[in-house]
Amino acid sequence: MNKETILVVDDQVEVLNMLRRLLLKDYNVVVASGGEEGLDYLKKEPVAVILSDQRMPGMDGVTFLNKARKIRPESVRIMITGYADIEATIGAVNQAGIYQYISKPFEPEDLKQIVKKAIQKYHAVRNAESLQSELLKKNKELEEANLKLYKQFEEHLDLGNLIGNSPPMLKVLKLVKKVVNTPTTVLLLGETGTGKELLAKIIHYNSSRKDNAFIVQNCGAIPDTLLQSELFGHIKGSFTGAINNKQGLFEIADKGTIFLDEIGDTSPALQLGLLRALQEGEIKPVGSAGLKKVDVRIIAATNKNLEEEVKSGRFREDLYYRLSVFPILLPPLRERQSDIPDLVYYFIEKYAGRINKKIKGIDKEIMQVLMNAAFPGNIRELENEIERLITLADENEIITSDLLSPRFSQVEIQPVIDQHRNLKTAIEYLERKMISQALKNTKGNILRSARELGISRVGLHKMLNRHGINAESFKSR
Ligand SMILES: Nc1ncnc2c1ncn2[C@@H]1O[C@H](COP(=O)(O)OP(=O)(O)OP(=O)(O)O)[C@@H](O)[C@H]1O
Ligand SMILES: [Mg+2]
Repeated sequence: MNKETILVVDDQVEVLNMLRRLLLKDYNVVVASGGEEGLDYLKKEPVAVILSDQRMPGMDGVTFLNKARKIRPESVRIMITGYADIEATIGAVNQAGIYQYISKPFEPEDLKQIVKKAIQKYHAVRNAESLQSELLKKNKELEEANLKLYKQFEEHLDLGNLIGNSPPMLKVLKLVKKVVNTPTTVLLLGETGTGKELLAKIIHYNSSRKDNAFIVQNCGAIPDTLLQSELFGHIKGSFTGAINNKQGLFEIADKGTIFLDEIGDTSPALQLGLLRALQEGEIKPVGSAGLKKVDVRIIAATNKNLEEEVKSGRFREDLYYRLSVFPILLPPLRERQSDIPDLVYYFIEKYAGRINKKIKGIDKEIMQVLMNAAFPGNIRELENEIERLITLADENEIITSDLLSPRFSQVEIQPVIDQHRNLKTAIEYLERKMISQALKNTKGNILRSARELGISRVGLHKMLNRHGINAESFKSR
């Protein structure tokens, strides 16, 4: 395998030589005696890791690394700084997007470990990028394969912001296409957040009624009497507070569509009014003796099981049959996992665009976590999570899995947190646990344990002393 290149920048020849000797075995080491020289090299060649001293005559380390970042954003930047400079440079360090700084004097072994980690980070980011482009390519292929199917819909349906190429979604769209230009009542079923309201909108705006009103009424949100007057209107004096005649939503939505959400939450009295609207195309305003003709298409939705509601007497059977002439079931997200990448990219674009943030992409791990998550809140939950990630993400960076909400991250850590509540003791506990595990795995071999833990041999010795762990005792186990 080709060795990765590390660029070391320092004005002191002895330091350059020392670092070169230290890293030569594992890497291709290039040295520069100042910022300008370092930048010249970067303009010509890519490097995996840049190691720079802070105090140099001419250009200081932070300025150099800032400029280096513009030329080679993918290179991982490490700064070497004296103790005295840490406070002063820490803000600047953040600005230059520095991976880590090492304070002088340092253990050679520590430096090697940090460089090794930096190389790993460099690879991880690059892998994520190539995976990203591979995913994009795959998506393109999929898109082309689905194009034929999709074309049929596109001829007649403007799907707006509806994302989904998975087989269950294509089935849904096939049904939508059949029903869109009929006066038929549609019943949208599906768990919360599966896109019922979005689909109702799509049906309306693709129908011949699109130039008239699309009205949404949530039937679960308001008391029954109020809902009746909202939907059917009332006449002056029909109840206390009814000081004027009021037009109901059915009249306002004349020749348009009304979307009745949470229809399972309606009372029997209201259900009767709806049945009349559906069957006869007539409504009766509250307090009125007469009926009014209306021409409204009804789309209803619920995440209740209406059949159960009928059985238990809470929902009129006759209305149920009128409503369920054309049911469409929106599948939960867990049954259309292949839609997740498309949805993720779509929401990233949506929310990054909204706040004008440039996002480089998301890493492989996070996509895997999202593809395998349960999502009881379905697409709404995914959408909220992406909005949160975009808010937390750094400009021009790749979104990494450490930004995910706690419910998506590894759960094993939770008991430790619950048990300790105190960061210091939790860390000590984890240290002891991980050190013992590593010693067990390596039968007490210090060097291999240190390597496994990603720390130096000296560092491990210090920790063993601090925790009073005897490595010898793992040899015989
Ligand atoms: N296929 C999809 N593509 C893009 N966005 C979607 C899709 N489905 C749903 N969404 C988005 O997810 C969110 C929730 O969708 P919607 O409000 O339509 O769900 P719902 O089924 O009505 O949920 P509830 O039962 O909780 O009312 C909305 O922001 C919607 O735009
Ligand atoms: Mg809804």
